[in-house]
Amino acid sequence: MSRLDIHTVALLACLLFAGLACQRSAASPRTERAQVLGGRPISAEQLGRGRDAYTHYCRACHGDAGDGAGISARGLQPPPRDLRLGVYKFAAVSAGQLPNDADFHRIIKGGLHGTAMLAWDVPDAQLDDLIQYVKSFSPRWRAEIPGVQIVLSPDPWLDREQAAIERGKRVYHGLAQCAVACHPAYVTRAEIFAFTQELTRMRIEEFRANLYAPVPKPSDYGFGIVPTDFTFNPLRAGDSTAEIARTVAAGIGGTAMPTWKDVLPDIDLWAIAHYVRSLVLLRNTPESDALHQRLLTQPDWTPPPIPDAGPADAVDGARVPQ
Ligand code: HEC
Repeated sequence: MSRLDIHTVALLACLLFAGLACQRSAASPRTERAQVLGGRPISAEQLGRGRDAYTHYCRACHGDAGDGAGISARGLQPPPRDLRLGVYKFAAVSAGQLPNDADFHRIIKGGLHGTAMLAWDVPDAQLDDLIQYVKSFSPRWRAEIPGVQIVLSPDPWLDREQAAIERGKRVYHGLAQCAVACHPAYVTRAEIFAFTQELTRMRIEEFRANLYAPVPKPSDYGFGIVPTDFTFNPLRAGDSTAEIARTVAAGIGGTAMPTWKDVLPDIDLWAIAHYVRSLVLLRNTPESDALHQRLLTQPDWTPPPIPDAGPADAVDGARVPQ
């Protein structure tokens, strides 16, 4: 190869590299620009530091572009979140609103149980940079601010565990109707009928097939999501009573699980949390097997006859479904 040729090759190589460099910076200009994210001005330097932390801890799964398609993402179930969506499941805000930094903090440091999103040991000094960088993947953060944090009353059932569980069982099956179309039921049909009539005066006349299994629901994440069976699946956002109460109150963003705060009074949200906690504690015990066995082999059930009622009651006592 002549000298000239070598120079030409070198020049071409330079041009090629320059082109690649151009492409690369075009693919991630967000990291180099100061931005207002969630109403807070974030400097280019901070985003640069955040990108370093992200590259170290998160990129393998969530990908360079935050699209959830990193090299380790293949085959993961659930898949790593596409952070460009700006949709989050476990923030303590009304489902669908943007999280507060405290939510990111909790989720990054605590992980999501039963998923590849482990508890990441990000040093505190890097955490804020990382959180702001994660936001920069989604345009939502440039247009919206975080939701108001949902705060519940202190647990009103302390020292009354059994009463809380009994109330929670009734609210779960009879008032919130958690098993009608989503989660499994954990009591007999006769009990659901009785709880519903007691709490709403309505008569449940029919039950769905597979009442004791969850019903898959569509989600905003591009795939269906199966609601939790509390005696079986790990609870992603934590299974202490307080964590369950928070998740139930806030709902789960991007899924069928709605916000229950202000739909039910706090005392009933806490009661549900105690009840769900009691189901979690059944996991892998003979009692859990016995419960499922009893439910699956329960005798046929038909609704009890409507008691003789005056005309006023007849109008009042709705039947579900007709
Ligand atoms: C080993 C793979 C993996 C790594 C590494 C990883 N994640 Fe995740 N991440 C996941 C998976 C899987 C989910 C989805 C969990 C779900 O949908 O329940 C997730 C979900 C999330 C969510 C959504 C939380 C919500 O409430 O919806 C955020 C935010 C997140 N990760 C941030 C991070 C950050 C920041 C890092 C780096 C510190 C990181 N992840 C590292 C796998 C990973």
